[in-house]
Amino acid sequence: MADEQEQRRRVRDAFTRQAATFEDQQLNQAFTSGLPRLLAVAEPRRDDTCLEVAAGTSLVGRGLAEQVAHVVALDATPAMLWEGRRQADQAGIRNLAFVLGDAARLPCRAAAFSLVVTRFSLHHFADPVGPLRELIRVCRSGGRVVVQDLASSTDPDLARRQDEVERLRDPSHLRMTPAGGLRGQLEDAGMRVTLADTVPVVRPVGQWLRQALTEPDAAAAVIERFEQELAGGEPTGLRPRRRDGELWFEQTWETTIAVKP
Ligand SMILES: C[S@@+](CC[C@H](N)C(=O)[O-])C[C@H]1O[C@@H](n2cnc3c(N)ncnc32)[C@H](O)[C@@H]1O
Repeated sequence: MADEQEQRRRVRDAFTRQAATFEDQQLNQAFTSGLPRLLAVAEPRRDDTCLEVAAGTSLVGRGLAEQVAHVVALDATPAMLWEGRRQADQAGIRNLAFVLGDAARLPCRAAAFSLVVTRFSLHHFADPVGPLRELIRVCRSGGRVVVQDLASSTDPDLARRQDEVERLRDPSHLRMTPAGGLRGQLEDAGMRVTLADTVPVVRPVGQWLRQALTEPDAAAAVIERFEQELAGGEPTGLRPRRRDGELWFEQTWETTIAVKP
């Protein structure tokens, strides 16, 4: 398990830097283009009370807000919450509250929400077990927990290399869950899994690096790894390719939905 305090500092540093450009439409295409499908499979209802954990600027929560009763967006980085608040005010959203807090210790009573969502967060957690337990604790009986995150290869060697490249790009990236791994964790916690779905997402390397404001040396190291793989070197697990002279790579995004009995 990574040192929790040190990881909290890395996350806050990374997302304080990224907050101002997080909503940049040129850079966050990957986060916005996948949103309609996530909202569809979450099946929001008019009377749902929702919690979005590690919400960032609450792109997901803002999408949910018009379809549900109320949303609380919780995140550990104040700058991300401020940017989210600004965007929500601009859009005239009134049923969305922003709360500073840690996913491992949610400041919420048990069974307070009927829909609990977290996206692109698990790979930043020092130990995802505590936050997962918290998502389940605050979900009421009959409610749903929806998790979407990057998934790694089930081959531990490839998974390690995938995480290394992701960490070069964003030092607050720790470790992805291997594809399919979340189902067992949720079932062991007594949840009934209704969806576990992986999709390949092919992204342009340059845009992905600019989105995280990757330092130039680290960005060069990422590109070097991809170039080496294309020249027949060690696989990164991220399947680099060239399209019209530009470098692209592939992530796996996994969506897991579970109902609390
Ligand atoms: C990649 S961003 C994703 C934001 C949002 N979920 C989305 O999909 O647009 C990761 C977010 O997780 C937050 N985060 C990371 N660790 C956290 C923790 N332990 N508790 C609360 N938030 C955390 C960061 O502050 C950041 O805003």
